[in-house]
Amino acid sequence: MTNQASQATKSSQATKASQPAKATTPPLWLLAELTYQCPLHCPYCSNPVNMEETFNELSTSQWKKVFREAREMGAVQLGFSGGEPLLRKDLEELVAYARELGFYTNLITSGIGMTEKRIAKLKDAGLDHIQLSFQSANAEVNDLIGNKRHSFKQKLNIAKLVKAYNYPMVLNFCITAQNIHEIEEVMALSTELKADFVELATVQYYGWAYENREHLLPTKNQLEEAEQAVNRYRDQQDGVGPKFMFVTPDYYENRPKACMNGWGTTFLTVTPDGSALPCHSAKILPLTFPNVKDSSVQNIWEHDFSFNHFRGDDWMPSLCKTCDEKDKDFGGCRCQAFLLTGDMHKTDPVCDKSPDHHLMKTITDKAGQQTSSTLKFRTVKNNIPVKTIQDLTV
Ligand code: FES
Repeated sequence: MTNQASQATKSSQATKASQPAKATTPPLWLLAELTYQCPLHCPYCSNPVNMEETFNELSTSQWKKVFREAREMGAVQLGFSGGEPLLRKDLEELVAYARELGFYTNLITSGIGMTEKRIAKLKDAGLDHIQLSFQSANAEVNDLIGNKRHSFKQKLNIAKLVKAYNYPMVLNFCITAQNIHEIEEVMALSTELKADFVELATVQYYGWAYENREHLLPTKNQLEEAEQAVNRYRDQQDGVGPKFMFVTPDYYENRPKACMNGWGTTFLTVTPDGSALPCHSAKILPLTFPNVKDSSVQNIWEHDFSFNHFRGDDWMPSLCKTCDEKDKDFGGCRCQAFLLTGDMHKTDPVCDKSPDHHLMKTITDKAGQQTSSTLKFRTVKNNIPVKTIQDLTV
């Protein structure tokens, strides 16, 4: 099911703006997607394929209202994300305000656009933590995947600045079929850069990554070899150096992930235009989501139809409702169920009890055998030409 198809079904779903409160816990983790603008064009980006809200971003004061309301409800962690959050000139002001409210603040960045002056200003503003993404441990591959020349060199410099300014540093490497073979180099580079934590995150298939899944999904064999390499490296570390987290795609699993720790329980995402979502990908679903410009965070979290819709187990098909693992995985990912079956209420097909589980095998059997050579690079303005997979081959 494409995102275009999801739009077509959207209007067929009746939605109600306000419902009795079902939530018992506040949103602990607020993700502020400040902008969808980004200097990179990674074909695995999880941002929506259709970024029509790009030019209608919340103002500084509107973001402050969101932070204040979320904090009053008990939110404790605030991630500044995008796109590239450094493109917002008010980032330092927003970080300072969030710290004043008592949030633990985290900047999720490509590093492109960061300077020493800015990193110092962010430190003064009270920023707690920086997560820096790399596309590869190889300069040429890195620059090709992000479609930005010299970006690898800039990232190396930023990583050094992050350490020089005493931030805890998480490095994030998105692992795909294009770079999985270099996982040892990735770990060596992370050690050299003195990272504290390293996410070796095999891409999850939402947004642009879903569009390009055929090219990005590693084979089971590649994943097993990569995991063995990570384990060997960890054994040699002897407790010294970065902590590596290897995240595999759930496409090869038999049980679904507990996506978002359960819909509307822990995570709140606010998109650049102010849409409030229970997960970063939810806009693809045939639901109408509220906007923080029109309502308070508390009203949205507790009463909006879209937030209540998948809370608890009322919505579940009997397969999930009667399953003794329903409190572990909450029926899996709603976005994945919708993308793969066209029905957001179905059991996540990753689950081998699902009648749709065969879809996973159909997809994973095709890993490593691309039938098309077309690759879509993330773009807001449609100004990046469609490329072929050979463009990523060095
Ligand atoms: Fe939306 Fe899993 S990504 S529910």
